[in-house]
Amino acid sequence: MGNTKGWWDNFWVKRTSPSTVGSGDYPYSDLMGKVACEYWHDKFKQLAPGKRMLECGCGSARVSAYMAQHGYQCTLLDYSGAALAQAKANFTRMSLDAGFIIGNLNQLCFKNGQFDIVFSGGVLEFFENAQQPINEMVSVLKPGGIFAAHLVPRKFSIQTIADIERTIACSIANLCRCRFKNVFKVVRNIPDDYEVSGLPLEKYIEMCKKAGLSSVTGFVTTPFPVLALPGAFQKAYVSLMRKLMPFWRRFNESNNFFSKHLGITYTIYGIKDN
Ligand SMILES: C[S@@+](CC[C@H](N)C(=O)[O-])C[C@H]1O[C@@H](n2cnc3c(N)ncnc32)[C@H](O)[C@@H]1O
Repeated sequence: MGNTKGWWDNFWVKRTSPSTVGSGDYPYSDLMGKVACEYWHDKFKQLAPGKRMLECGCGSARVSAYMAQHGYQCTLLDYSGAALAQAKANFTRMSLDAGFIIGNLNQLCFKNGQFDIVFSGGVLEFFENAQQPINEMVSVLKPGGIFAAHLVPRKFSIQTIADIERTIACSIANLCRCRFKNVFKVVRNIPDDYEVSGLPLEKYIEMCKKAGLSSVTGFVTTPFPVLALPGAFQKAYVSLMRKLMPFWRRFNESNNFFSKHLGITYTIYGIKDN
């Protein structure tokens, strides 16, 4: 796929403000991050044999930062130096320690069986065939360790419907600013140049099993889309979502007709065979 190391370097260099959960810079993704961090923290407490955690494709490492605040010893890996620089800056700002490693998910540079938890968030969707990176991540897990991942695939979801609102809102904004070239631009949550896989959840589950995981569990998650709303409405939307977090959590683990068809993200975990 086209999202190369250079593409990610450019992405992280442009993203200058801090992006950790609770920073308030990106209210919607902040909330998504909060739901994810709390969910994974619960799962790790229940299932992980210890607190040595590796995050692969860490970006700004917000999940690891949350776990480090809760006593996990985190190692962060990314092939983009710019991503690791952001992760380092976030950890330093929060007075947290971690190991920072430049490395490729297709060939991890760790001894087998080192970690209690291996996590990747928003990464597997960038691989046309995710079997190799999943194999690599499972190989560095201890027997009994937990592999955890979430991703934003290209699929029909409530976000697809919400993108109609975003397209209309952006067209009006462009018209008001006399940016006529962009008036008919379609706005998509996953832009066309963002090369993301459309593999179904079942395929990821199959790959996890093939890599040596058992009790593999997968859900289609996230019931609330990103909307393009003016400031005050955006605030109201985010505070409504905050109030609906119990519903959000129930939706995430419901695996019913609605979550499968309308959910925006995939959440998967499994335990390495002994
Ligand atoms: C969308 S970001 C995820 C950021 C972070 N995990 C989060 O949840 O906010 C994807 C990250 O994966 C990294 N990445 C993609 N392919 C990789 C590979 N083959 N090896 C190592 N890192 C990779 C990119 O550099 C980027 O920082």
